[in-house]
This record gives sequence, C-alpha cells and structure tokens, in this order.
Amino acid sequence: PYYIRQWDATGKVNSQVEEMFSGHMVIRAYGQEDETIDEFDRRNRELYDSSFMATLIAGINMPVTQFFGNLNFVIVVVVGGLKVLSGTMTLGDLQAFSQYSRQLSQPLGQLSSMATILQSSLASAERIFEFLDEPEEVAEREHTQDIKDVKGLVRFDHVKFSYDPAEPLIEDLSLEAKPGQTIAIVGPTGAGKTTLVNLLMRFYEIQGGSITIDGVDTRDITRHDLRQHFGMVLQDTWLFDGTIRENLLYGLHEGKTISEEQMIEGAKACHVDEFVRRLPDGYDTELKDETAELSQGERQLMTICRAFLSDPDILILDEATSSVDTRTEVLVQQAMNHLREGRTSFVIAHRLSTIRDADLILVVNHGSIVEQGRHEELLAKGGAYANLYQAQFANGDNIEED
Ligand SMILES: Nc1ncnc2c1ncn2[C@@H]1O[C@H](COP(=O)(O)OP(=O)(O)OP(=O)(O)O)[C@@H](O)[C@H]1O
Ligand SMILES: [Mg+2]
Repeated sequence: PYYIRQWDATGKVNSQVEEMFSGHMVIRAYGQEDETIDEFDRRNRELYDSSFMATLIAGINMPVTQFFGNLNFVIVVVVGGLKVLSGTMTLGDLQAFSQYSRQLSQPLGQLSSMATILQSSLASAERIFEFLDEPEEVAEREHTQDIKDVKGLVRFDHVKFSYDPAEPLIEDLSLEAKPGQTIAIVGPTGAGKTTLVNLLMRFYEIQGGSITIDGVDTRDITRHDLRQHFGMVLQDTWLFDGTIRENLLYGLHEGKTISEEQMIEGAKACHVDEFVRRLPDGYDTELKDETAELSQGERQLMTICRAFLSDPDILILDEATSSVDTRTEVLVQQAMNHLREGRTSFVIAHRLSTIRDADLILVVNHGSIVEQGRHEELLAKGGAYANLYQAQFANGDNIEED
C-alpha cells in the first residue's frame, strides 16, 4: 500500500509542477502563489510520508530476516553444543545441522529482498495496466487502398457522431464539397465545427453514415495515407523546439523537399518573412519556450506557412487567423486565396468578413447544418447567417470599419 501511495503521490506532484510551471503567469495574475505553494507542500508531504514508510519497510525487511537467520544459527549452535556436551548428539550431526540452517536462511533472505522489489513493481504495474486498458484506436480495415491524384470531392453522407453516447452531437449530417471549392463553416462556439474536422481527418471514428474523398470511403484508406493529403492549421498553434526553418518545413511529406528560395517565397506570401528577418538569426533562430520569442499572431502565421509549404490536396483552416490583426488577416487571406486555388478547402472562421468569398457557407449549430449557400443568398434569406453577420457589424468586429 505504501508503494501504491508513493507512485500515486509522485504522479500528483509531477503533474502539479508541470501545470504550475506552464501556467505561472495566470497564477500570478490571480494572486494564487500562496495557495499554489500550500498545495505543493501538501502533496510533497504526502509523497514524503508514503516514500518514507515504503523505504523504511523495504529497508528493514532484509536486515530483519538476516537477523532472524543469524539468531536461528546461534540457537542451533548453542543448543547443539549443549547436546554434544551431554553426549546426546555427535559433533558431526551438529556440523551438518548448522550447515542446513544456514542454507535455509540464505534463500529466505533473498526472497525477502525480492519481495520488496516485487511490491514496488506491482504498484507500478497497476498504473501501467490502467494505461494499457484504455480503449484502442479502431483497427484499420483489412483491404485498404491509397488515393492518388486527389481531386478533392469530399462528401459527408448521413454522418452520425458523438463524443459521449449520452450526449448526441451530430445526428444526421450531409454535405458535399466539390473539387476546388472553398467551404466555409461558421456557427457559434461549441457548435461542432472542429468536430467536423476531427472526423474528416479520422481523429475520431464516425458512428454512422460515411465520409468519402473522391468516392472512396475514408475508412478504406489508412489514417496515415489519408492525412498525407491534408494540410491543416489548427485552432491552437503548435511549434516545437527547433529552428524556424525546421518548424516551417515540418509539414513536408516523406521524400519531398523544397529549395530555400521556395521556402522564402512561401514565407513572404504568409507574411512570416517580415518578422523572421527581424530576428538576429533569421530562419535559424531556435524556438525554445512555448510562448517566448514570438507573438501569438506570429505563431499562427508560422503554422499557416507550414501548411502552405506542404502543398496539400485538401486544406483545413480552423480559426487560422483569429489572433492576427485584421489588416494582416486580409493580406494572409489573399495569399491563401492563391493557396486555395485548385484544391478543396475547409475554412472555419468567426470573423465572417474573411469567408465572404467562399463557394459554400455552412452555418452549423448543435451539430447540424442549419443553413447553407453563398454569402449573398444567405444574407438575403435573413436567417441565422444574416443574424450572425448583423451582430458582427453592430459590434464593430468587422474589417470594413478598420
Ligand atoms: N474531445 C471531446 N470530448 C468530449 N466532448 C467534446 C470533445 N471535443 C469537443 N467536445 C464537445 O463537442 C461540442 C462541439 O465541439 P467543437 O470543438 O466541435 O466546437 P466548435 O464549433 O469548434 O467551437 P469553437 O468555435 O469554440 O471552436 C462542444 O459542446 C464540446 O464541448
Ligand atoms: Mg473549434
């Protein structure tokens, strides 16, 4: 039990340290330093206590068994010696018997030292099994195929999905994106926009209906092959420790390379070049800490540039320019218009001004499409989209006013 508590406490202390380290700005902003330290002290004390007991018991185990082994030997020799003196036992018998008792106590001592290791491993094993018991990703189908020369016809056919069986999200959703079209997905927070992307990329498996690309069910393609055809810019930016160049070229698929000029050309189109040039080491600048060195908008531009350079068949932009100022956004949009040419793209945006030119706008709410059409049609209709649009106008969250 002490070992189980010890590993448990170790995990808790570690996760708290990590959490508090990455969130230290928020902790300071809310003046939670003392509470955080108290909480750490409490968990650390728990770890100390359980480790202390576990180590103590493990530590005295071996000497105790050895002590009794030796005590046993002494008793055998003393009692045997008396018997030899009184003549009821021969010296040879005593010699043999003391040998046996030694031979018996030695493995016992070994066993007890093993027992402590065993206990510690059992406590760890419990945690490993907890991890192994997590549900597996659904296995790939037996006969998979790869799609070549993707045209980009994407079709959702009566798709059904929910994260939690108790809470249905997408009940029956159908949509079609023709090759080369730009599909904009708009809708309130929590409507299921990112979920659609998750399903398209097979981060989650659909529970009914089908999703096809160029007529091929995405479940007939391995996840790896499927994702090769996508370029995506996610809602939360992700840059890793490495140089800016490495981060930009990260999306290139196996065996594909581009020249330095092509990279810089792409970086210019995405407005990455401007701020990279200001850095002392340019494209060789090492990015280290999660937040250091670059602003949020600059990080977003980097991830857009990454998708740009990977030259995907289908492009997904989930709130890709939400942290960029509106002027840069327009410029990046223009660059992306170029990038979107000839490939199917899905664009999720809250700022409606950025998706006005989309070929098809889907208004999503509670996991279903409530309206679809082009910008002018939807405005004329005066429904949900028109309401959203008017609301943004009224709030001044609109580039026309900038
Ligand atoms: N991994 C998950 N497990 C369980 N529920 C989830 C998960 N991800 C999202 N949800 C829920 O599913 C619903 C749709 O989430 P989704 O991320 O698709 O919203 P969204 O339209 O992208 O919103 P936003 O505009 O804020 O990005 C939300 O109610 C959310 O709470
Ligand atoms: Mg989202």
